[in-house]
Amino acid sequence: MTEHPRVWVNGRLYAAEAFALSPVDHGVVVGDGAFETAEIVGGRVFALSRHHARMQRSLSGLGLPDLDRDRMDEGIAAVLADAAPIDFGRVRYFVTGGPGPLGSDRDPQANATYVVAAGPMAAYPSSSALHVVPWTRNERAATAGLKTTSYADNVIAYAAAKRAGAHEAIFANTRGELCEGTGSNVFVVLDGVIRTPPLSSGALAGVTRELLLEWARADGLTIIEEDLPIEVLHAADEVFITSTTRAVMPCHRVDDRELPIGPLTRQAADLFTRRAADHHDP
Ligand SMILES: Cc1ncc(COP(=O)(O)O)c(C=O)c1O
Repeated sequence: MTEHPRVWVNGRLYAAEAFALSPVDHGVVVGDGAFETAEIVGGRVFALSRHHARMQRSLSGLGLPDLDRDRMDEGIAAVLADAAPIDFGRVRYFVTGGPGPLGSDRDPQANATYVVAAGPMAAYPSSSALHVVPWTRNERAATAGLKTTSYADNVIAYAAAKRAGAHEAIFANTRGELCEGTGSNVFVVLDGVIRTPPLSSGALAGVTRELLLEWARADGLTIIEEDLPIEVLHAADEVFITSTTRAVMPCHRVDDRELPIGPLTRQAADLFTRRAADHHDP
């Protein structure tokens, strides 16, 4: 049995601090890879099929070979079986272009690198404060909508949010429209209706967002996807974010503006909790 987090690389289990990845792996050298983070609840991975589907889209967008689901599933099973069941945590898995040149070119002969890591997590707070950062998401970027391992923009933005006493940073896109957080999608309530930016804003197709939209539609709760100016965050009656591990998380503050946790946020959160408990792979 190993300590958390446990790591599996290309078919073998390692201690997390072990040297298991090539220093010239293209994922390390230029961030040429795709990743997923899925929630572990009661020892089981939640919504794995949807995470795999999104990883496949990210790999296609990057021009990397298709996801070998059996291979990835083998890695996920191996890290989960390697220690006591994780009651609440996350599994983070990624695929990179494999060992490659020291530049942006890719070695077409290289074997993709498959990595899985899993560990427990502390529960998030029940609500969050948001900080709007001055940097933008580029909705016309080559990587828009892909979950790539190039996440340094998010690292910088998240650090700025923490310095501002907040729990998540929110980006506008280059058109000045509301886009998303560093690791979350964002929803606002305006004129009594829940609204969220469409994927054309450059936001990632969050698995939690996707499930909430589907479940809300089935339950008669209206959520409109529409372009919204970033300033909507300072006018909205309610704001919440969604992500794997946070589920539907109410926001109690946006920058200096305090917000109530309102009825539509509660309805969305309750709906998500109820439906997510029905099935571990919806
Ligand atoms: C940039 C970004 N947006 C949104 C999300 C939310 O997606 P999900 O609900 O699949 O976790 C994530 C996930 O970490 C993300 O990295």
